[in-house]
Amino acid sequence: MAVTGAILVLYLIAHMYGNLKIFSGQEAFDGYAHSLRELGYPMLPENGLLWILRVVLLASVLIHIYAAVALWARARRARPAAQRYKVNKRVARSYASYTMRYGGVLIALFVIFHILHLTTNHIAPGGRSDSPYERLVNGFQPEFWYVTLFYVLSVIMVGLHLRHGIWSALATLGANMSRRQGTLNAIALGISLIVTVGFLLPPLAVTFGLVS
Ligand code: HEM
Repeated sequence: MAVTGAILVLYLIAHMYGNLKIFSGQEAFDGYAHSLRELGYPMLPENGLLWILRVVLLASVLIHIYAAVALWARARRARPAAQRYKVNKRVARSYASYTMRYGGVLIALFVIFHILHLTTNHIAPGGRSDSPYERLVNGFQPEFWYVTLFYVLSVIMVGLHLRHGIWSALATLGANMSRRQGTLNAIALGISLIVTVGFLLPPLAVTFGLVS
Protein backbone atom coordinates (compact mmCIF):
# COMPACT_ATOMS: atom_id res chain seq x y z
CA MET A 1 0.00 0.00 0.00
CA ALA A 2 2.74 2.43 1.04
CA VAL A 3 5.16 1.79 -1.83
CA THR A 4 2.53 1.97 -4.59
CA GLY A 5 1.06 5.02 -2.83
CA ALA A 6 4.48 6.68 -2.92
CA ILE A 7 4.75 6.02 -6.69
CA LEU A 8 1.30 7.56 -7.19
CA VAL A 9 2.16 10.61 -5.04
CA LEU A 10 5.33 11.23 -7.10
CA TYR A 11 3.22 11.00 -10.26
CA LEU A 12 0.68 13.45 -8.83
CA ILE A 13 3.38 15.99 -7.90
CA ALA A 14 4.88 15.78 -11.42
CA HIS A 15 1.42 15.97 -13.05
CA MET A 16 0.38 18.95 -10.92
CA TYR A 17 3.64 20.77 -11.76
CA GLY A 18 3.18 20.02 -15.48
CA ASN A 19 -0.41 21.32 -15.42
CA LEU A 20 0.82 24.70 -14.15
CA LYS A 21 2.47 25.21 -17.58
CA ILE A 22 -1.03 26.22 -18.69
CA PHE A 23 -0.10 29.65 -17.25
CA SER A 24 2.81 29.88 -19.74
CA GLY A 25 0.46 29.76 -22.74
CA GLN A 26 -0.67 27.31 -25.40
CA GLU A 27 2.72 26.77 -27.03
CA ALA A 28 4.41 25.92 -23.72
CA PHE A 29 1.63 23.60 -22.58
CA ASP A 30 1.23 21.76 -25.88
CA GLY A 31 5.02 21.57 -26.26
CA TYR A 32 5.23 20.02 -22.81
CA ALA A 33 2.45 17.49 -23.61
CA HIS A 34 4.26 16.63 -26.86
CA SER A 35 7.62 16.24 -25.13
CA LEU A 36 6.08 13.65 -22.78
CA ARG A 37 5.48 11.50 -25.84
CA GLU A 38 9.08 11.93 -27.02
CA LEU A 39 10.69 11.02 -23.69
CA GLY A 40 13.50 8.51 -24.28
CA TYR A 41 13.27 8.87 -28.09
CA PRO A 42 15.18 7.71 -30.20
CA MET A 43 16.57 5.15 -27.75
CA LEU A 44 12.95 4.02 -27.18
CA PRO A 45 10.18 4.17 -29.79
CA GLU A 46 7.95 7.26 -29.80
CA ASN A 47 5.56 7.12 -26.81
CA GLY A 48 7.79 4.30 -25.44
CA LEU A 49 8.64 5.77 -22.04
CA LEU A 50 5.12 7.19 -21.73
CA TRP A 51 3.69 3.68 -22.12
CA ILE A 52 6.19 2.27 -19.61
CA LEU A 53 5.06 4.97 -17.15
CA ARG A 54 1.41 4.17 -17.87
CA VAL A 55 1.98 0.46 -17.18
CA VAL A 56 3.82 1.28 -13.92
CA LEU A 57 0.99 3.64 -12.91
CA LEU A 58 -1.76 1.17 -13.72
CA ALA A 59 0.07 -1.64 -11.91
CA SER A 60 0.52 0.67 -8.91
CA VAL A 61 -3.20 1.54 -8.87
CA LEU A 62 -4.22 -2.14 -9.10
CA ILE A 63 -1.78 -3.26 -6.36
CA HIS A 64 -2.87 -0.27 -4.24
CA ILE A 65 -6.53 -1.35 -4.54
CA TYR A 66 -5.67 -5.01 -3.89
CA ALA A 67 -3.69 -4.01 -0.76
CA ALA A 68 -6.59 -1.83 0.43
CA VAL A 69 -9.02 -4.74 0.18
CA ALA A 70 -6.56 -7.14 1.85
CA LEU A 71 -5.88 -4.68 4.70
CA TRP A 72 -9.59 -4.03 5.14
CA ALA A 73 -10.24 -7.78 5.49
CA ARG A 74 -7.33 -8.13 7.92
CA ALA A 75 -8.54 -5.16 10.00
CA ARG A 76 -12.01 -6.71 10.24
CA ARG A 77 -10.59 -9.96 11.54
CA ALA A 78 -8.33 -8.17 14.03
CA ARG A 79 -10.83 -5.60 15.32
CA PRO A 80 -11.08 -6.61 18.99
CA ALA A 81 -7.30 -6.95 19.24
CA ALA A 82 -6.81 -3.61 17.46
CA GLN A 83 -7.71 -1.81 20.69
CA ARG A 84 -4.19 -2.70 21.83
CA TYR A 85 -2.53 -0.30 19.41
CA LYS A 86 -2.09 3.16 20.81
CA VAL A 87 -1.78 5.81 18.15
CA ASN A 88 -1.67 9.59 18.30
CA LYS A 89 -5.36 10.36 17.70
CA ARG A 90 -4.72 13.88 16.42
CA VAL A 91 -2.87 12.57 13.37
CA ALA A 92 -4.11 9.01 13.01
CA ARG A 93 -7.86 9.66 13.18
CA SER A 94 -8.93 12.67 11.21
CA TYR A 95 -11.72 13.44 8.75
CA ALA A 96 -9.25 12.39 6.04
CA SER A 97 -8.75 8.96 7.59
CA TYR A 98 -12.50 8.27 7.54
CA THR A 99 -12.70 9.03 3.83
CA MET A 100 -9.92 6.68 2.68
CA ARG A 101 -12.09 3.81 1.42
CA TYR A 102 -14.99 5.51 -0.29
CA GLY A 103 -12.68 8.41 -1.19
CA GLY A 104 -10.41 5.96 -3.01
CA VAL A 105 -13.37 4.59 -4.99
CA LEU A 106 -14.50 8.12 -5.94
CA ILE A 107 -10.95 9.03 -7.03
CA ALA A 108 -10.79 5.90 -9.25
CA LEU A 109 -14.12 6.91 -10.89
CA PHE A 110 -12.83 10.47 -11.32
CA VAL A 111 -9.62 9.22 -13.03
CA ILE A 112 -11.66 7.17 -15.53
CA PHE A 113 -13.82 10.23 -16.34
CA HIS A 114 -10.70 12.43 -16.45
CA ILE A 115 -8.86 10.21 -18.96
CA LEU A 116 -11.98 10.05 -21.19
CA HIS A 117 -12.18 13.85 -20.91
CA LEU A 118 -8.66 15.25 -21.21
CA THR A 119 -6.59 12.38 -22.67
CA THR A 120 -8.81 10.51 -25.14
CA ASN A 121 -11.30 13.40 -25.47
CA HIS A 122 -14.28 11.04 -25.81
CA ILE A 123 -16.05 13.33 -23.35
CA ALA A 124 -15.62 16.82 -24.74
CA PRO A 125 -17.63 19.62 -23.17
CA GLY A 126 -16.89 22.71 -25.25
CA GLY A 127 -15.64 20.70 -28.25
CA ARG A 128 -12.89 18.28 -29.21
CA SER A 129 -9.37 19.34 -30.06
CA ASP A 130 -5.97 17.83 -30.88
CA SER A 131 -4.37 20.44 -28.64
CA PRO A 132 -4.20 19.45 -24.93
CA TYR A 133 -4.31 23.18 -24.08
CA GLU A 134 -7.56 23.66 -26.00
CA ARG A 135 -9.10 20.52 -24.51
CA LEU A 136 -8.43 21.93 -21.05
CA VAL A 137 -9.64 25.43 -21.84
CA ASN A 138 -12.77 24.17 -23.67
CA GLY A 139 -13.74 21.85 -20.84
CA PHE A 140 -13.68 24.36 -18.00
CA GLN A 141 -15.59 27.25 -19.59
CA PRO A 142 -18.04 28.99 -17.21
CA GLU A 143 -21.04 27.32 -18.88
CA PHE A 144 -19.56 23.96 -17.85
CA TRP A 145 -19.30 25.06 -14.24
CA TYR A 146 -20.49 21.61 -13.16
CA VAL A 147 -17.38 20.05 -14.79
CA THR A 148 -15.18 22.48 -12.84
CA LEU A 149 -17.13 21.74 -9.67
CA PHE A 150 -16.70 18.00 -10.21
CA TYR A 151 -12.94 18.49 -10.64
CA VAL A 152 -12.74 20.74 -7.57
CA LEU A 153 -14.53 18.18 -5.37
CA SER A 154 -12.46 15.32 -6.79
CA VAL A 155 -9.18 17.16 -6.27
CA ILE A 156 -10.19 17.98 -2.66
CA MET A 157 -10.91 14.26 -2.21
CA VAL A 158 -7.43 13.51 -3.62
CA GLY A 159 -5.99 16.04 -1.14
CA LEU A 160 -7.73 14.35 1.82
CA HIS A 161 -6.58 10.95 0.59
CA LEU A 162 -2.99 12.19 0.38
CA ARG A 163 -3.20 13.89 3.77
CA HIS A 164 -3.88 10.60 5.52
CA GLY A 165 -2.12 8.36 2.97
CA ILE A 166 1.25 10.13 3.15
CA TRP A 167 1.19 10.09 6.93
CA SER A 168 0.27 6.39 6.92
CA ALA A 169 2.89 5.51 4.31
CA LEU A 170 5.63 7.27 6.27
CA ALA A 171 4.55 5.30 9.33
CA THR A 172 4.50 2.00 7.40
CA LEU A 173 7.92 2.67 5.90
CA GLY A 174 9.37 3.14 9.35
CA ALA A 175 9.49 6.89 9.91
CA ASN A 176 6.91 6.94 12.67
CA MET A 177 9.02 7.47 15.76
CA SER A 178 6.65 8.91 18.33
CA ARG A 179 8.79 12.03 18.85
CA ARG A 180 8.62 12.81 15.15
CA GLN A 181 4.85 12.56 14.71
CA GLY A 182 4.42 16.32 14.57
CA THR A 183 6.98 16.58 11.76
CA LEU A 184 5.43 13.70 9.81
CA ASN A 185 2.03 15.28 10.19
CA ALA A 186 3.37 18.60 8.89
CA ILE A 187 5.01 16.89 5.89
CA ALA A 188 1.75 15.08 5.02
CA LEU A 189 -0.29 18.26 5.38
CA GLY A 190 2.24 20.37 3.43
CA ILE A 191 2.48 17.99 0.44
CA SER A 192 -1.27 17.46 0.24
CA LEU A 193 -1.98 21.20 0.41
CA ILE A 194 0.55 21.99 -2.34
CA VAL A 195 -0.83 19.23 -4.60
CA THR A 196 -4.45 20.26 -3.96
CA VAL A 197 -3.93 23.98 -4.60
CA GLY A 198 -1.65 23.28 -7.60
CA PHE A 199 -4.30 21.06 -9.22
CA LEU A 200 -7.15 23.47 -8.47
CA LEU A 201 -5.48 26.50 -10.07
CA PRO A 202 -5.72 25.57 -13.80
CA PRO A 203 -9.44 24.67 -13.96
CA LEU A 204 -10.42 27.60 -11.72
CA ALA A 205 -8.26 30.00 -13.76
CA VAL A 206 -10.08 28.92 -16.95
CA THR A 207 -13.56 29.12 -15.40
CA PHE A 208 -12.84 32.59 -13.99
CA GLY A 209 -11.41 33.83 -17.31
CA LEU A 210 -7.75 34.20 -16.27
CA VAL A 211 -6.67 31.68 -18.94
CA SER A 212 -8.41 31.55 -22.31
C1 HEM B 1 -7.84 19.49 -11.87
C2 HEM B 1 -6.69 19.12 -12.11
C3 HEM B 1 -6.18 18.35 -13.30
C4 HEM B 1 -5.96 18.79 -14.57
C5 HEM B 1 -6.21 20.19 -15.13
C6 HEM B 1 -5.41 17.67 -15.32
C7 HEM B 1 -5.04 17.72 -16.65
C8 HEM B 1 -4.70 16.63 -17.41
C9 HEM B 1 -4.46 16.65 -18.83
C10 HEM B 1 -4.51 17.91 -19.71
C11 HEM B 1 -4.19 15.38 -19.22
C12 HEM B 1 -3.89 14.90 -20.65
C13 HEM B 1 -2.44 15.08 -20.97
C14 HEM B 1 -2.15 14.76 -22.42
O1 HEM B 1 -2.93 14.09 -23.08
O2 HEM B 1 -1.09 15.19 -22.87
C15 HEM B 1 -4.24 14.54 -18.04
C16 HEM B 1 -4.01 13.18 -18.02
C17 HEM B 1 -4.07 12.40 -16.88
N1 HEM B 1 -4.34 12.81 -15.60
FE1 HEM B 1 -4.79 14.67 -15.02
N2 HEM B 1 -5.32 16.59 -14.48
C18 HEM B 1 -5.79 16.95 -13.24
C19 HEM B 1 -5.89 16.16 -12.12
C20 HEM B 1 -5.57 14.83 -12.07
C21 HEM B 1 -5.66 14.02 -10.89
C22 HEM B 1 -6.10 14.54 -9.53
C23 HEM B 1 -5.27 12.76 -11.24
C24 HEM B 1 -5.18 11.52 -10.42
C25 HEM B 1 -5.78 11.32 -9.28
C26 HEM B 1 -4.94 12.79 -12.66
C27 HEM B 1 -4.53 11.70 -13.40
C28 HEM B 1 -4.31 11.72 -14.76
C29 HEM B 1 -3.99 10.54 -15.55
C30 HEM B 1 -3.84 9.12 -15.01
C31 HEM B 1 -3.84 10.96 -16.88
C32 HEM B 1 -3.52 10.10 -18.09
C33 HEM B 1 -2.04 10.14 -18.37
C34 HEM B 1 -1.72 9.35 -19.62
O3 HEM B 1 -1.84 8.14 -19.60
O4 HEM B 1 -1.38 9.96 -20.64
N3 HEM B 1 -5.12 14.06 -13.11
N4 HEM B 1 -4.55 15.32 -16.95
